[in-house]
Amino acid sequence: MVKCNMSLVVIPFLLHILWFLMFPHTIQSQGNAFSRQPTSQFIFTPHSLSDSDPEQVHISLVGKDHMRVSWITEEKDTESIVEYGTKEGEYSKKSIGDHTSYNYFLYKSGKIHHVVIGPLNPNTTYFYRCGGSGPEFSLKTPPSKLPIDFVVVGDLGQTEWTKSTLKHIDSKDYDVFLLPGDLSYADSHQPFWDSYGRLVEPYASRRPWMVTEGNHEIETIPIIQPHAFKSYNARWIMPYNESGSTSNLYYSFEVASSHIIMLGSYTDFDAQSKQYKWLQYDLLNIDRNITPWVIVLLHAPWYNTNEAHQGEGESMRQAMEELLYEARVDMVFAGHVHAYERFTQIYDNKHDSCGPLYITIGDGGNREGLALKFKQPQSPLSMYRESSFGHGRLRIVNETHAHWSWHRNNDADAFVADNVWMNSLSNSKECWETLKQQVSHGEL
Ligand SMILES: [Fe+2]
Repeated sequence: MVKCNMSLVVIPFLLHILWFLMFPHTIQSQGNAFSRQPTSQFIFTPHSLSDSDPEQVHISLVGKDHMRVSWITEEKDTESIVEYGTKEGEYSKKSIGDHTSYNYFLYKSGKIHHVVIGPLNPNTTYFYRCGGSGPEFSLKTPPSKLPIDFVVVGDLGQTEWTKSTLKHIDSKDYDVFLLPGDLSYADSHQPFWDSYGRLVEPYASRRPWMVTEGNHEIETIPIIQPHAFKSYNARWIMPYNESGSTSNLYYSFEVASSHIIMLGSYTDFDAQSKQYKWLQYDLLNIDRNITPWVIVLLHAPWYNTNEAHQGEGESMRQAMEELLYEARVDMVFAGHVHAYERFTQIYDNKHDSCGPLYITIGDGGNREGLALKFKQPQSPLSMYRESSFGHGRLRIVNETHAHWSWHRNNDADAFVADNVWMNSLSNSKECWETLKQQVSHGEL
């Protein structure tokens, strides 16, 4: 009798899990009352190499002059070694790293290798080989001085739209790729993480990809997979140790006069949390003489006039906005909402010329489609908004000026659909004076 009752509970539960693993989009699309474009074709990028060949190669910045090279092999005996040099086919240096792997329900990952190489010279092309054999890759290190070009795009996924976005990005060179969350849209179906790694390899093996997590990286399943970010943390290790963070879910790094902070929308952020305390510490230790530009990326936007995901970033905004304002952060990028929106400079829901400029750039091109409906009438804080797939480029020209541009996929490569020039707040005597007064009056 007990057995019978148990099977009544367990079998439907397992069927539910099986359905979820086979068709994760059916779960994800529930509750999306807001308007979406019809979905685009999902692209599965198959494994076409031998089991010992490196696949899913991607690189990320580590400290001032190092890079982490990450890749996967099906073969378990391959070494975690990277040989590299500045001449094609000649590897004068080598580094040895480590590896990991993980199990997720019935899925077992390949051998995930992570090797830190360097010190590397700035603005230099290196040729490298992973695991002692296989194809040669090349990368270019970012410049140590301005100008520097960032590409910014969130919610990338792996569809025909993603392909279009990546093709547009590739049409003009850049130094560092910034991704504010939602990478593969694997949504617990682990082979989709591998497929995503193969799709982005031609881009992510050549320029550093610096990412933070979105909701699609969480991937918990009650009872079976209670631990969040299992795949993301194994595959996309970021330089959190180097910035004093104890979590891969939030970290910072510095490159060419810019201090970039990657926050985690899906881990604790209240005033007692580790992330909050780390952010306080990180902001206090910025030297604006060395890095006049301070840029923050996170997933769920704090300001958003789209009907999609309304209010989802609000509790984080209430917890952390004052910290960013006091530090005179220049810009905040978010994803999550599948559209483009540029705001004015804001603090506490009001225009404030000492607050950060907010941009939502969640229009990379995933299978969920665009968020088509914006709230009416348009808020005076929202300067430009549009539901089209695209990517953004931030060119930091010098210590005082930067240019932001948004590029729509439907247009020719060079077309700039929206753009704005910015002045760094580090140079605004007025803003720092105002801060002193606000602190002395107890307003902050
Ligand atoms: Fe998201």
